Amino acid sequence: MEKSIKSFFLNKLTNCRFLRLITSDMKRSKIKELLSSKPNGQIITVKGWVRTFRNNQFISLNDGSTIQNLQAVVALNTFDDATLRRITTGACLSVTGELIPSPAKGQTMELKVTALEILGDCDAEKYPLQPKKHSLEFLREIAHLRSRTNTFSAVMRVRHAMAFAVHKFFNDRGFFYIHTPIITGSDAEGAGAMFRVTTLDLNNPPKDESGHIDFKEDFFGRETNLTVSGQLEVETYAMGLSETYTFGPTFRAENSNTTRHLAEFWMIEPEMAFYDIKDNMALAESFLKYLCQYALDHCAEDLDFLDKRAKEEEMSKPQDQRSELGLLDRLKFVSENEFEKLTYTEAYEILRNSNPNKKKKFQYLIEEWGVDLQSEHERYLVEKHFKKPVILYNYPAAIKAFYMRQNEDGKTVAAMDVLFPGIGEIIGGSQREERYDNLVKRIQELELPEKELWWYLDLRKFGSAPHSGFGLGFERLIQFVTGMTNIRDVIPFPRFPGNAEF
Ligand code: 4AD
Ligand code: MG
Repeated sequence: MEKSIKSFFLNKLTNCRFLRLITSDMKRSKIKELLSSKPNGQIITVKGWVRTFRNNQFISLNDGSTIQNLQAVVALNTFDDATLRRITTGACLSVTGELIPSPAKGQTMELKVTALEILGDCDAEKYPLQPKKHSLEFLREIAHLRSRTNTFSAVMRVRHAMAFAVHKFFNDRGFFYIHTPIITGSDAEGAGAMFRVTTLDLNNPPKDESGHIDFKEDFFGRETNLTVSGQLEVETYAMGLSETYTFGPTFRAENSNTTRHLAEFWMIEPEMAFYDIKDNMALAESFLKYLCQYALDHCAEDLDFLDKRAKEEEMSKPQDQRSELGLLDRLKFVSENEFEKLTYTEAYEILRNSNPNKKKKFQYLIEEWGVDLQSEHERYLVEKHFKKPVILYNYPAAIKAFYMRQNEDGKTVAAMDVLFPGIGEIIGGSQREERYDNLVKRIQELELPEKELWWYLDLRKFGSAPHSGFGLGFERLIQFVTGMTNIRDVIPFPRFPGNAEF
């Protein structure tokens, strides 16, 4: 801070007992801690961003430690007009003063300011965040400033708490966190929607004799991609450490412009030796219940805010599309009720005989056994038929990945999807095919690159074991826990088709 401003404040303060105080040098208290302390005139310093400044007197300050603001009161005639004019929405301040019980309604305590320093000015004319409601679409365009809003700071605090809870859940149960690679030569899902990683000169790539790009000259001496899933790699560690998980970013170059898809998302993938599909389903259920309960126990303030926010959003929807339960009720509901478990075939029968199918209301009608279920079908089962989370298992082999364990019926595999209200598929997983011959046969049927999967097949050659695992889409979980309807609003910097700003 410039010398002149400092000395100006010091002059102003000559009559008070903090003569030598330069507020930015003082130890900072967090607003969250202050609000749970007893205000008795103690001298404290807080630093944060101005949300509003009313009547040239009342500064509402937020430092992100909590959704609550601290009211800082500047007595009339303490500061000159030039200083007061710099206290604008968005400006960053350091304020020092006495923490006292608030005489006014609306807050239990306030800070009687005796010294104030402006750490960062904010031109009110140009600052895009005005003290009013902005649309989520608009805020996405200024994602670098979203953390200054109540909604996004609340969502990101909840996101943090959930990441912490994920590790706590597994650590408490003796699982080991394995960091699987981000750059990989394998395509775990066999889906082909991958982002290429290369250092070749795209304007002039080296070619082999037949005129194809010669990836032998690329950085890794082969074709590489960003990972779509850490599953295959974490399986190798489950085959030695028994209970493992990975939690990292994953990438999919699908052109899906939906409220549930991102091109870059985080996934939690536990993988356990000696678990069959039933054990796998039980783990998934207790994991999701734990996470919902953790949010209720540790994020009450933010969830209260998000609950009200979601209720307002619901009111703008037509009555028949409003959800029956509020955000907090939904979390309690998940943590307290058993999930409905049924096979794909049972679900198929329910859907085939359902009203929307008979009346041709589904966009994709359910006719033949074996069709992949669309989000409209999943949501019908969860929101209309069972009205609770559902786990479907034993899916047709043809619509699932090569590594899933083949069932005796010769048609289905031991796959499972967990379906949630408002979200649809939140978890996908399976028991893995641990029998070498079965796996090779499947790889050949699907014409997958058997040679490149040599290490994966080795696991079935050398001490194979029954094992299972699943993947939880972290952002879909955060959508459920925060009630945010668009997945782009639960990750700090969303990546989706046509957008990689920031
Ligand atoms: O069902 P998926 O594709 O399964 C796997 O990747 C397995 N390898 C997991 C495993 O068994 N270890 O993805 C798992 C979950 C989905 O249920 C969904 O929640 C989320 O990841 N997901 C996405 N989330 C955001 N954007 C996308 N494009 C997503 N694709 C999948
Ligand atoms: Mg899936």
